[in-house]
Amino acid sequence: MKFHITTMGCQMNVGDGDWLTRSLIGLGFTPAPEEEAELFILFTCSVREKPEQKVASELGRIADRHRDNPNAFVAVGGCVAQQFGTALWRRFPMVRLVFGSDGIAGAPQALSRLAAEPGLRLSLLDFTETYPERDQSWPEDTVPPRAFVSIMQGCDNFCAYCIVPFVRGRQKSRGLPAVVAECEALAGRGAREITLLGQNVNSYGLDASGDGTSFARLLDAVATIPGIARIRFTTSHPKDLSDDVVARFADLPELCPALHLPVQSGSDAVLTRMGRRYDRAAYLRLVDKLRRARPGIALTTDLIVGFPGETDDDFRRTLDLVREVGFDSGFSFMYCDRPGTVSERMEPKVAQEVKSARLAELQALLDERLAAALAAQVGRTTEILIEGASRRDSPTGPSWRGRDPGGRIVNMALPGVAEAAGTIVRARIRQAKKHSLIGEAEADHD
Ligand code: SAM
Ligand code: SF4
Ligand code: F3S
Repeated sequence: MKFHITTMGCQMNVGDGDWLTRSLIGLGFTPAPEEEAELFILFTCSVREKPEQKVASELGRIADRHRDNPNAFVAVGGCVAQQFGTALWRRFPMVRLVFGSDGIAGAPQALSRLAAEPGLRLSLLDFTETYPERDQSWPEDTVPPRAFVSIMQGCDNFCAYCIVPFVRGRQKSRGLPAVVAECEALAGRGAREITLLGQNVNSYGLDASGDGTSFARLLDAVATIPGIARIRFTTSHPKDLSDDVVARFADLPELCPALHLPVQSGSDAVLTRMGRRYDRAAYLRLVDKLRRARPGIALTTDLIVGFPGETDDDFRRTLDLVREVGFDSGFSFMYCDRPGTVSERMEPKVAQEVKSARLAELQALLDERLAAALAAQVGRTTEILIEGASRRDSPTGPSWRGRDPGGRIVNMALPGVAEAAGTIVRARIRQAKKHSLIGEAEADHD
C-alpha cells in the first residue's frame, strides 16, 4: 500500500515521521506523493489554535480528494490526536487510526492490520510509564545527512500557557544505550549531523524513567560516535541549562555553535505568571556564559506577545531584551488560550488588536535582527554540510543547499560535482538573502 505523511508542528513530529516512514517501508508499504497514496498519515500539533484548525482543513481536503477510493484511509498522530482521540472518528469518517506520542510505537503494526481489515478502526492513546522504545527498521542503505533522534518524551514543566504536558504526557527519558545505538545506526548509513530532540532536553535522565545519566554525559557519548560531525539539540529550557552543558559548547567541537533558547518574555512580571522559573537577569547571565564558552554562538528564541495581563511596559521590556541579547532570529507568537492550561483562566486577556500590533512590532524587530545576523556572515569562511539540491539552480549551473555550523541555510554551486549531499564543503559567504546565504566553494570538498 502506498502512503503519504504530512507533518505539522515541531521537530518531535518530524522525527516521529522519519521513524514511521522507515518502519512502514520495512513492513512493505511504499512512500508516495499524495495523489498516488491510499494511506494518509497526519502528524498534528495543538500548541496554538492555528495549527489545530489546520488539521480539520487538511482532513477535509483529503476527504474531498480521495473519498471515491474505497481503500483510502487516514491515520492521525501527534498532539491533536491525543487531545481529541476517537472523537475524530465521528467527525472524519476516513480516519481509522488515532495515535498519541506514546502509542506511536504500535502504529506500524496497527496500520498493517487496518490495511488488511477494511472494517476496523483502532486507537493508540494510552500514556506509558516509561519511554516506549520503538522497533528500529533500516530498509534503506542511506539516510539524509541531517537526522533527528528522540531522547525523551513529554514535559513536566507545565508553563502556564502550554498544552504540551497534557498532550505529550509526563517527561520520560530514553535510555542512553538506545539513543547511542540509534545515532550509530544513522551515522553508519550516512547521517553526519544529529539533532537530539525533546521538549526539555536539559532535564534528560532526571525523571523516574531515566537512569540518571545527565544531558552533558549524553552529549559526550554522542560526540564520540564515528561519522558524526555535528550535534545539535532542541529544545532547552533556560532554568535547566546546566553549567556542564554550557561547558560542552567550549569542549566539544562537534557541538554546533547554535542554541535555541526560548525566553518567551522580557518582563519579570510576565515570566513569573508564565511559571517559567527564571527572570530576565538570570537569562542574561546564561547568555553571557554561553558566549564566553563559545564566542559567536548563534542564539535564537521563542517569544509570546499578549500573555494575560501583559502591559505595554511589559511588552517594551521584551523588545528591549531582544535588542540586548542580539538574537540571530526568533519565532514570535500571539498568545492564545489552550484548554486546561493555567493561563486559560487568567485575566485580564489582552485585546486581539493589541496582540496583533505587538506581534507586528516584534516581528519587524526580529526581521531586522535576522537581516543583520545574515549580513554579518558575508565575507566569512565557513563549513557547509550539504543536504541536497537547492530548489533553484544558480546562474552558473546546479546549486546545492546546506547549513553552516550556526544553522543558517547556505545555497552554493559546486561546479563538476554530481552528488554532494552529506559532504562538508569549505565556503566563503558571498551574499545575504532574506532568509538564507549564498556561498562559494573555497577548496576541495571531502
Ligand atoms: N519546550 C519548548 C520550550 O520550553 O520553550 C517549546 C514549547 S512549544 C512546543 C513552542 C513554542 O510555542 C513555545 O516556546 C511558545 O513560545 C509557544 N507557545 C506555547 N503555547 C502557546 C500559547 N498558548 N500561545 C502562544 N504561543 C504558545
Ligand atoms: Fe511547554 Fe513549558 Fe514544557 Fe516547553 S517547557 S513544552 S513551554 S510546558
Ligand atoms: Fe505541537 Fe505537540 Fe510539538 S503541540 S509543537 S506537535 S509537542
